[in-house]
Amino acid sequence: MSASQPIRVLVATQAEQVYEILKERGDVHYDIALYTGTISDLLSRVQLVIIDYDDIAEYPLTEVDVRERIFTAQVRECSSEDFVADPDGYLDAIAMSHAGAMLSFPDHYSIAFVSYSGGVGRTTLAMDTAYYYVDAAKQYRDKSRRARREGIKPLNATALLLELCYGASSLSSVTGLDMPSLMPLATSPEAQAHVYRGVTHIPMDYDNVRMLDVDLLQRYFQRQMGQHALTVIDGIWPHGLANALVQAVDLWIVVASERADTLANALRLYDELATEYGEGRVWLLQNQVEDIKKGGGDIAWNIRVPRISRSDEFRGEIGQIVLSKVFAPLWATVYDVQTKSGLRKGKA
Ligand SMILES: Nc1ncnc2c1ncn2[C@@H]1O[C@H](COP(=O)(O)OP(=O)(O)OP(=O)(O)O)[C@@H](O)[C@H]1O
Ligand SMILES: [Mg+2]
Repeated sequence: MSASQPIRVLVATQAEQVYEILKERGDVHYDIALYTGTISDLLSRVQLVIIDYDDIAEYPLTEVDVRERIFTAQVRECSSEDFVADPDGYLDAIAMSHAGAMLSFPDHYSIAFVSYSGGVGRTTLAMDTAYYYVDAAKQYRDKSRRARREGIKPLNATALLLELCYGASSLSSVTGLDMPSLMPLATSPEAQAHVYRGVTHIPMDYDNVRMLDVDLLQRYFQRQMGQHALTVIDGIWPHGLANALVQAVDLWIVVASERADTLANALRLYDELATEYGEGRVWLLQNQVEDIKKGGGDIAWNIRVPRISRSDEFRGEIGQIVLSKVFAPLWATVYDVQTKSGLRKGKA
């Protein structure tokens, strides 16, 4: 999503003041729905619901159903009275936490790199992004006294790597480390996840965990994500255990390369996810681009990553490209401080 993308609001009230306020804002697109069925249908496309339950018609769903659907869709909700009392508070809070238009760092944020196609670079993107985040956030924390005086809060330098895979774990095989995997971690209170390069790794042992209750996994993931500022997920799609994670994903990044089949697959997956989670939460990334100057064809890529040498060393080049887009415009400050510190030079 770009900074110019409108905030999407669903209006389920007859309060005229709400409409007057929304009309005046140039950055809001709103849909009106007073029937419970329409409200429910539109939920995946909006970021805020302004709803007065006395104004809506219970057809075909009940009020209780709608309340529940709003809750599971994780959409912000308020009454017309609350909204009218502080419209900028509600709308700016949403504008501030958009991928690509981040005006303050969220306390927790999760990015899932996903694709139907194998070999497009999901694992590389996920690992490089997580390692880079921790390095950059630490350096920023250490070096940014001046920036902090200017009101930028220090970054929490914790990151978590998760995966949705079948068969062998990429996190284990790529790091070459013998790490505790999801089954023991989720089921035994003593098990501790491995921390490597400052990042907590939770490799998936699918053959074991597929027997587990999805709710148990979901609770485990939620606890872990609550303890880390950034969660990065490497996910093949579709996946049998995706339900344990989908609610927690803030930004889906669908990955393709320059291969025609991966482009077609990425567009299909983009549509699937955008229908389910809303366009604002799904991005398209083209990886391993041979000549970045050439442009990305007809597709409006949110991120394009060039083919780099020794990508398996995870030097942060890829992560820097990703986070400077996702956390724009804030990441520019982090990057400035971090590069001026000179610590990254020659760091593998
Ligand atoms: N931007 C890049 N530049 C150069 N090489 C890259 C880049 N991204 C990924 N690669 C390389 O491409 C190969 C495939 O990448 P990766 O394993 O990350 O893909 P994947 O989508 O996770 O694949 P799989 O479906 O096997 O899990 C690896 O050798 C990786 O080092
Ligand atoms: Mg992989």
